[in-house]
Amino acid sequence: MLISDKMVAAINKQIGNEFGAYLQYVAIAAYFGNESLPELSKHFNKQALEESQHAMKFVNYVLDAGGLPEIPAIPAPKSRFSSAEEAVKLSLDWELTVTKQINELVDLAGKENDHTSHSFLQWFVNEQLEEVSSMDMLLKIVRRAAQNLLFVEDYLARKGLRPSASAAG
Ligand SMILES: [Fe+2]
Ligand SMILES: [Fe+2]
Repeated sequence: MLISDKMVAAINKQIGNEFGAYLQYVAIAAYFGNESLPELSKHFNKQALEESQHAMKFVNYVLDAGGLPEIPAIPAPKSRFSSAEEAVKLSLDWELTVTKQINELVDLAGKENDHTSHSFLQWFVNEQLEEVSSMDMLLKIVRRAAQNLLFVEDYLARKGLRPSASAAG
């Protein structure tokens, strides 16, 4: 096996975190769907899909490295929110937590002189910059829209997020 048992265990834990994010974003998309806010719902379904792809990236990496991916139990997501702001704030906090988790994996790779994992993890380091900045932007837009979430719907429909990468989509 190319990577240590310890690294496999740490990545398996992260697979659970990514699937946890998937479930949380599906739940938030469902909340917005229930509130008749289709653009916000669509946005979070898209985020959910990305999280499941992150989980699968880790699964495939463990397989490539000769380890056994083991999916941990995933806690139930939060489904009820008192406001759009609460749901988006939870998402931003989640992304900040994931950024820390990714940094810890990079630290572990460094400690173990595991250049293979270190290189693999750089994709996630860059991805988290985008995830945190776009979620932060969404939270600001939601706060600015105050009581009228139709402004947020309109913004997402017209421009989407990720201003720095708008050309790439
Ligand atoms: Fe992720
Ligand atoms: Fe994410």
